[in-house]
Amino acid sequence: MLSNLLFFICILISSFIFTSHSYNNKCLRHQETLLIQLRDELIFNSSRSTKLVRWNESGECCKWHGVECDASGYVVSLQLDNETIYGGIGDSSSLFRFKYLQKLNLAYNHFFSDAIPKGIGNFTCLTHLNLSHAGFVGQVPSEISTLTRLASLDISKYYQENFILELPNLEMLVHNLTELRELYLDYVNITSFHERKRWSHIVSSYLPNLTALSLRRCSISGPLARLFWKLHSLSILRLDGANLSTVAVADLFSNFPFLTTLTLRDCSLKGSISSTFANLTELIHVNLESNFLTGSLSSMLFKRLSNLVHLDLSFNSFSGNIPHSLFALPSLLELYLSHNQFNGTFQLDSFQSLPNLTLLYLSGNSLSVDVGNVNSSLKLKELGLGSCNLSNFPDFIKHLDLKYLDLSANRIAGEIPSWVWGTQLWLLKLSFNLLTDFQKPYHIPVSLEYLYLDSNQLRGELQLPIPLESHLMILSLDNNSFSGSIPTSLCKTTHIIFLSLSKNKLSGSTPPCLLKYIQWLDLNQNNINGSIPDIFSLNCNLQYLVLNNNNLEGKIPKSLKSCMSLEVMDVGNNKINDTFPCMLSSSLRILILHSNKFHGEVTCNMTSWTALQILDVSSNNFSGRMESINFSNWRGMMQWSYAQPYEVEVTLIMKGIELELEEIWPYFGSIDFSCNNFIGEIPNAIGDLTSLYHLNLSHNALNGNIPQSFGNLSMLESLDLSRNQLTGPIPTGFGEFTFLEVLNLSYNKLVGVIPKGRQIQTFSAAPFVGNPGLCGFPLNTNCSHTNELSPREHEDVEEKREIEWECVSAALGYVVGFGSILWLLLFCRSFRQKYFGKIEEVVEDIFIARDMRRRRARMASRNRARRH
Ligand SMILES: *[C@@H]1O[C@H](CO)[C@@H](O)[C@H](O)[C@H]1NC(C)=O
Ligand SMILES: *[C@@H]1O[C@H](CO)[C@@H](O)[C@H](O)[C@H]1NC(C)=O
Ligand SMILES: *[C@@H]1O[C@H](CO)[C@@H](O)[C@H](O)[C@H]1NC(C)=O
Ligand SMILES: *[C@@H]1O[C@H](CO)[C@@H](O)[C@H](O)[C@H]1NC(C)=O
Ligand SMILES: *[C@@H]1O[C@H](CO)[C@@H](O)[C@H](O)[C@H]1NC(C)=O
Ligand SMILES: *[C@@H]1O[C@H](CO)[C@@H](O)[C@H](O)[C@H]1NC(C)=O
Ligand SMILES: *[C@@H]1O[C@H](CO)[C@@H](O)[C@H](O)[C@H]1NC(C)=O
Ligand SMILES: *[C@@H]1O[C@H](CO)[C@@H](O)[C@H](O)[C@H]1NC(C)=O
Ligand SMILES: *[C@@H]1O[C@H](CO)[C@@H](O)[C@H](O)[C@H]1NC(C)=O
Ligand SMILES: *[C@@H]1O[C@H](CO)[C@@H](O)[C@H](O)[C@H]1NC(C)=O
Ligand SMILES: *[C@@H]1O[C@H](CO)[C@@H](O)[C@H](O)[C@H]1NC(C)=O
Repeated sequence: MLSNLLFFICILISSFIFTSHSYNNKCLRHQETLLIQLRDELIFNSSRSTKLVRWNESGECCKWHGVECDASGYVVSLQLDNETIYGGIGDSSSLFRFKYLQKLNLAYNHFFSDAIPKGIGNFTCLTHLNLSHAGFVGQVPSEISTLTRLASLDISKYYQENFILELPNLEMLVHNLTELRELYLDYVNITSFHERKRWSHIVSSYLPNLTALSLRRCSISGPLARLFWKLHSLSILRLDGANLSTVAVADLFSNFPFLTTLTLRDCSLKGSISSTFANLTELIHVNLESNFLTGSLSSMLFKRLSNLVHLDLSFNSFSGNIPHSLFALPSLLELYLSHNQFNGTFQLDSFQSLPNLTLLYLSGNSLSVDVGNVNSSLKLKELGLGSCNLSNFPDFIKHLDLKYLDLSANRIAGEIPSWVWGTQLWLLKLSFNLLTDFQKPYHIPVSLEYLYLDSNQLRGELQLPIPLESHLMILSLDNNSFSGSIPTSLCKTTHIIFLSLSKNKLSGSTPPCLLKYIQWLDLNQNNINGSIPDIFSLNCNLQYLVLNNNNLEGKIPKSLKSCMSLEVMDVGNNKINDTFPCMLSSSLRILILHSNKFHGEVTCNMTSWTALQILDVSSNNFSGRMESINFSNWRGMMQWSYAQPYEVEVTLIMKGIELELEEIWPYFGSIDFSCNNFIGEIPNAIGDLTSLYHLNLSHNALNGNIPQSFGNLSMLESLDLSRNQLTGPIPTGFGEFTFLEVLNLSYNKLVGVIPKGRQIQTFSAAPFVGNPGLCGFPLNTNCSHTNELSPREHEDVEEKREIEWECVSAALGYVVGFGSILWLLLFCRSFRQKYFGKIEEVVEDIFIARDMRRRRARMASRNRARRH
């Protein structure tokens, strides 16, 4: 009864509101008092507030910013978006005493870790509720489902790992919201697996008149319900990240004739863009990025899309020519066609008919771009012409003041012209060209955040004129011929988090200031000397430290202990003289100490490196008993710990291809203890490391038996136990191995019959020689003989010489480099290729985090760029 009465009042009020604006609404005293109370309760930053901060007793309260009243003076709308509110809305808040509220907007505030207040259920007149990007977490309260007059509901959020908004029951939420026309739930976690599949049925059966539906990144999937195709009023449809692999794209284009916004980024769409697309004449914003769409684009498709402003078809497999009708779309501002298979010659001056075009991305196709006579009237701000077969810097760029310029993977030789740096550039990518010098003088703009000059022929002293206020974050100069020392000018900016200088000819020492803020540092293959500065701070963010192949001396810095995110450390092939770095963080996944002067034991009392996947301590002077190494903690090398893939949502750029990964299977373990002075027995626990692909304990002084548990290492592809003092028989489990490609048990004191098995029988005698007590195939020793022969003296001498040779060649072992790991084992080719892939997977996995950050940074800077 009461609720019916309230409905009646709502209707009365809403019939007034259309006319109310022309009235000089009188502020009701009690409403003003309530507003002032609300202002005082809310916690916000008054130096950033533009509305609340100006609410005060002088003046008409219905005219205060963000407030609207109906004809009789009741507050019906509160627009408190973007007010930096971060608290003060409890269930007893004055907010809930505005009984006639129809519109409430709390979007873009900072309620981090507050739940959406249940009091919202009191607003029986509410038609518009906007809580988007407000930082609310926890469950969407069921009270919202009682707001039966709602026409628009927006509770979407950005991706923020730690702030999860859960919707336990979508059907319950919309069941009674029959008036709803707009539903925005981006990034909300629809917790029911069942509903994530049935969403299209739920939405279309309860909300048949929807005009806007946005369910980006809600982990939903197809197929789509038959009723869904009847949502003919849809104008905004955004389903990015949904798995629509079972949906025919033609249906998406033919059933929703009034679409203005269509974004289906990363939806596993297949097939080609059907001719029905041409009928979507209202389209303004289209994003089909990162799908599996194919075919050529007919010019007919775009002829009538005269409202089109934004078109993103990048990261698909479209082929053929770029359609001419695109150049006739007068409103087009942003065009992304990069990373497809478009081919043919493309006349860049076609775009002169689009004077307002601000973004043009053509990189990563098979196009030959003919620059022609582009005049200077273009307003381009972002230009991607990577791998466009250019042999010069296009002249017209001189007249643009770009924010983004990609000319990578062309054939441009000679100097980097000084005009290329512009005044507001934030990304410059000239990688993979034939550039040799910088035209001087030049200056790096303060705005530059990303600079990629890698894989060119740049030479001479490395001297970058980085300005004091520089925003440079990512600097990639690897694979050039820079010489001299690492300039301290790199320290002028506190922003550099990623620095790759690998494969140059740099010498001198590492400037300590460089390490202060760095997250990724790659100095691989230079001539850097001195020691690694011991200056990592308590809030160290280092994740990736690769110093392989230099002349570093001294010790591993003790302060690395504070780097709790360290995942990769490679100091191989240097002259570091230290004990095993037990203090490193448990986040460690790759540790390479190969070929240095490390000594002492490899035992750690405290640390348990549960994430460790690759450990290479080979060719050092480590000693001690093998049994004291605690292998049972290395869960990174045990399959069961990763039986479930990580669910991630990341974009990864590898070799010019951007991939969105959702699952990672980090199954790869490798241990190399070879060429040291370890003694004692091989611990049984190694047999638990079931993800081991590679195990090398050769050239030590191990004794005892090979543990029976080795039979569990079913993934093993390479096993080297040669040149030890191992005794006893070869475990029968060796007969079960199926992937083993490299086996070396030579020069031990093994006895008995070589086990039989499919794989082990395919080896030659070489892996078994030097064990006088072994017999049977493939050795020609007959097993009827006893095995009591002792090794001959002269063999020992020969053995010594061979150890040295093998340990030197093993010094080529691992080289971790930026973006790729080279595995230069002197084994057969196919073996090498296989490993290359495996290690790359691990590194990809690690790189993901970086690329996600990069991408976020890219978004952020792009947004920033837009706002300017
Ligand atoms: C309020 O905003 C100003 C300007 O952005 C900022 O300097 C200040 O730290 C903020 N105050 C609080 C308490 O967040
Ligand atoms: C009250 O607000 C008005 C307009 O927003 C402003 O001009 C005036 O200075 C404010 N008065 C006080 C006391 O803050
Ligand atoms: C919610 O408010 C934000 C900020 O004002 C706005 O950008 C967004 O479009 C609104 N959502 C709806 C559905 O109107
Ligand atoms: C919908 O409204 C009806 C009638 O008011 C009520 O009985 C029912 O419980 C509501 N359903 C949900 C899911 O809220
Ligand atoms: C969504 O919620 C479920 C249940 O609480 C949780 O298991 C899952 O990890 C969440 N998914 C994401 C992506 O946060
Ligand atoms: C949807 O719109 C149709 C026609 O405008 C109307 O008859 C119908 O009642 C509406 N449905 C709902 C659930 O509002
Ligand atoms: C999408 O769904 C299809 C069919 O249900 C499934 O085979 C495929 O693995 C899914 N793709 C992704 C990326 O989850
Ligand atoms: C486009 O729409 C017209 C009429 O609205 C229809 O006759 C035609 O078949 C449609 N074309 C396509 C390709 O769907
Ligand atoms: C280009 O932009 C200007 C200014 O915004 C506008 O007046 C003009 O109509 C636009 N031109 C086209 C072809 O859209
Ligand atoms: C472009 O690719 C298509 C196949 O996708 C091929 O038939 C055509 O010859 C190519 N054109 C040029 C100019 O390379
Ligand atoms: C481990 O701890 C014991 C006693 O707590 C100590 O004697 C030993 O030196 C420690 N070993 C290492 C490698 O730190």
